[in-house]
Amino acid sequence: MNNELDPVIRVTNPCKPLELDLSRPLEIEVGCGKGKFLTARAAENPDCEFLGIERMLERVRLFSGKCRRGSIANAHVLRLEALYTFHYLLPAHHARTVYVFFPDPWPKKKHHSHRLFGPLFLNALWKRLEVGGKLEFATDHREYFDVVCECFAADARFKRVEAMPRPKEVWTEFETMFREQGLPVYSAAWKSLPADDSPLEPLKIPPEAEPREGIERRIAANDDF
Ligand SMILES: C[S@@+](CC[C@H](N)C(=O)[O-])C[C@H]1O[C@@H](n2cnc3c(N)ncnc32)[C@H](O)[C@@H]1O
Repeated sequence: MNNELDPVIRVTNPCKPLELDLSRPLEIEVGCGKGKFLTARAAENPDCEFLGIERMLERVRLFSGKCRRGSIANAHVLRLEALYTFHYLLPAHHARTVYVFFPDPWPKKKHHSHRLFGPLFLNALWKRLEVGGKLEFATDHREYFDVVCECFAADARFKRVEAMPRPKEVWTEFETMFREQGLPVYSAAWKSLPADDSPLEPLKIPPEAEPREGIERRIAANDDF
């Protein structure tokens, strides 16, 4: 156990971009949960930096524990909402790969605005991926899978490519759970292409998209992480 390691990146100023080591490649996992996938990848790839984005405090703690137990110094975790993080806090065109595995599908129509994938996320994603960088996606939810595929198909800045192989050893917690129940898993990947690189417009978060809110409240309340 390496108690010296502190994988948590604490954001005290929500407007200040993160200070990351730009001399090393970066891979990001959105909704990294307890960190099974990302910490394993970090342990195997010591020359790369890994950033997990996860808004649930308990999962961030479990992620940190995995890093400490494995002395994994190149994995970091940020307890923040992903769209906001991509829009405001990440460096431009630096991420080599972004993984989004089993994002919340928000199956009810009235909750679709909570879904991560949509034009706002694709704008911010394109801005943060290096040209030729990839988004790897997997879900158990067929309807959400089709929606995400349509979303990318409508955006000329991305080209569909073959999804990475994911043998059992790299399954996430949710993938393990779904596969063990014999449920189908749908995977796809897209590569970013060169395109007009205009600045991102300020993010207007729709009031009904409640899970996107909260950073100002957390900072005002001096919330943990
Ligand atoms: C269904 S779980 C999947 C966790 C992990 N990817 C896996 O496959 O085991 C979705 C995770 O994404 C996190 N999450 C959902 N929406 C998020 C958002 N907008 N920003 C950050 N984390 C988010 C949730 O807290 C949860 O841990």
